[in-house]
Amino acid sequence: MKTVKGKKERLIDDYGREIRSLRFSITSRCNLECIYCHNEGEWRKGKRNREEISAELVIEIARVASTYFDIRKIKFSGGEPLMRDDLVDIIQGMGDFEDDISATTNGVFLKRYADELADAGLDRVNVSIDSLKEERYDFITSSSNNLPKVIDGIYSAIDAGLTPLKLNMVLLKGINEDEIADMIDFVRECNKRGGEEAAILQLIELIPYFNPFMQNCEANFYAVEAELKSKASAIKTRRLQHRRKYFVDGVEVEVVHPIDNTEFCANCSRLRITSDGKIKPCLLRNDNLVPIESVDEMHIITKLKLAMRYREPFYKGKNSKS
Ligand code: 5AD
Repeated sequence: MKTVKGKKERLIDDYGREIRSLRFSITSRCNLECIYCHNEGEWRKGKRNREEISAELVIEIARVASTYFDIRKIKFSGGEPLMRDDLVDIIQGMGDFEDDISATTNGVFLKRYADELADAGLDRVNVSIDSLKEERYDFITSSSNNLPKVIDGIYSAIDAGLTPLKLNMVLLKGINEDEIADMIDFVRECNKRGGEEAAILQLIELIPYFNPFMQNCEANFYAVEAELKSKASAIKTRRLQHRRKYFVDGVEVEVVHPIDNTEFCANCSRLRITSDGKIKPCLLRNDNLVPIESVDEMHIITKLKLAMRYREPFYKGKNSKS
């Protein structure tokens, strides 16, 4: 279906935040079990085998979002999105109606699928890699023998052009926070292979609410940012969630710092879809989900608009509506 550009509606919530991207969790299944995992804000217990959103519905939501609301940025996550054997079909189904299609993966299966995903139309990947030390990686992911596969997967993705590839590193106090410099060196290696800016390091603040054992593992993000600032040759601010990007020794380091950050929430332009087909207005809440129950275009439009009324910054600033 063709629509005239400029006539599209905008999805704007009561706090003036316009939606610019969709993040689909397409499965809650995963081959790893990271100690901190928030499972995209879906509560895991007893719900592992529930029905997964169909490929048809994912494609239809993406089509409606791009056709009627000009949302042309899509991210697929999980669980592990490569646990779904129709991920390639889903990406193919995005057709030409998206400008930026990415996936967040743990990278274990990436080597096998990188070329196929790129051919299907995937633009880039984020790969979760919290440590370059095997023992630590195994501890964090509750698994063994996977780190070499992930590193191979990263190289294959770079070779397939799934770039800029972001290395997601969740900073954990006393576990991996001393590895930032090593990780920057690794990004430099990746850039030697894939060209300047083939890889980016993304430092992510731990959201500790999902696992009681993680309460004391939050790294001091203010100190981390201060250090990056002192070393950076340039600093930029992204529109999405006002994330900062530091350029350190030729390597781009993006910082995702959501906790107690009103600026982060005030600039949130992302809407999530859960693995069982519900619109999720905020990662940190589960009491305002909006189920999408059919692939009917009008139904999807109505539900997307309804979800706007449920959107509210989790961390509110003094000047926001309360
Ligand atoms: N805190 C911060 N980020 C998390 N992720 C998962 N759980 C958490 C958490 N508790 C993010 C990481 C990972 C991606 C799949 O989800 O960035 O790479």
